[in-house]
Amino acid sequence: MKIVSAETMLKNARKDGYAVGQFNINNLEWTKAILTAAQAKQSPVILGVSEGAAKYMVGYKTVVNMVEGMLEALNITVPVAIHLDHGSYEGALECIEAGFSSVMFDGSHYPIDENLAKTKAIVAKAKAKGISVEAEVGSIGGEEDGVTGAGEIADPEECRRIAATGITMLAAGIGNIHGTYPDNWEGLRLDVLKEIGETTDRIPLVLHGGTGIPDAMVTEAISYGVSKINVNTECQLVFAAATRQYIEAGKDKVGKGFDPRKLLKPGYEAIIRVVQEKMDLFGSSNKA
Ligand code: 13P
Repeated sequence: MKIVSAETMLKNARKDGYAVGQFNINNLEWTKAILTAAQAKQSPVILGVSEGAAKYMVGYKTVVNMVEGMLEALNITVPVAIHLDHGSYEGALECIEAGFSSVMFDGSHYPIDENLAKTKAIVAKAKAKGISVEAEVGSIGGEEDGVTGAGEIADPEECRRIAATGITMLAAGIGNIHGTYPDNWEGLRLDVLKEIGETTDRIPLVLHGGTGIPDAMVTEAISYGVSKINVNTECQLVFAAATRQYIEAGKDKVGKGFDPRKLLKPGYEAIIRVVQEKMDLFGSSNKA
């Protein structure tokens, strides 16, 4: 199957009350693991690509070619979107030209009118090519230099205005944070999410910072309209832990255990397990 926009998969998810996972990719092993998990679970999937990860993977076109090659060689039949994660205005334009099927323009750091104007311009260019667009209002918190921000809680009225620009899906800051959550985290503002869900005309909502949110909170968020959930750090953590275990057990020193195809296998398998668990939790298994 060829890559598809995220529009149909997310509309179906919003209608039927489940969420599609966006799993960020970093390299070939990550991509193959996520596609393999999606096919096994018969789940639609969104491959998230940050600008930094794209640079690491030698550019947007290399990413598109790698994914397209895998879809064919692995006989992937479930819907797969390649999505720019937290894109700048320029980055989103580049991805539209490079063959991505979905882009996020993150204008949350601009004043709302500038965010609206730039989002509209991206929507016009993307829609002409059948590419889905995600916009953001409020900010997703995160840890930087040991300082943890709660993130800015989105204003439902601003969400309503940006949802009306023709975007496909909307990310709203509701106390979610990239990376692991601190012990004193107060949880998602599900009251705000509910209000946003009611004021945005059933647009699919996006929950960033999917690592470490308690399952019950995830399920409740889905009931208020979250149709896409982003997971990145959790795959990185299980990959690192499995690789560490392999090396600490001295397996790289046995026979040809140093061969990267062996060395990276436990991490690869750990990603498959996490992605499959998330697909079951989000309700997207068997929805391809
Ligand atoms: P985590 O790294 O917290 O899972 O968040 C991922 C994300 O939101 C990517 O946009």
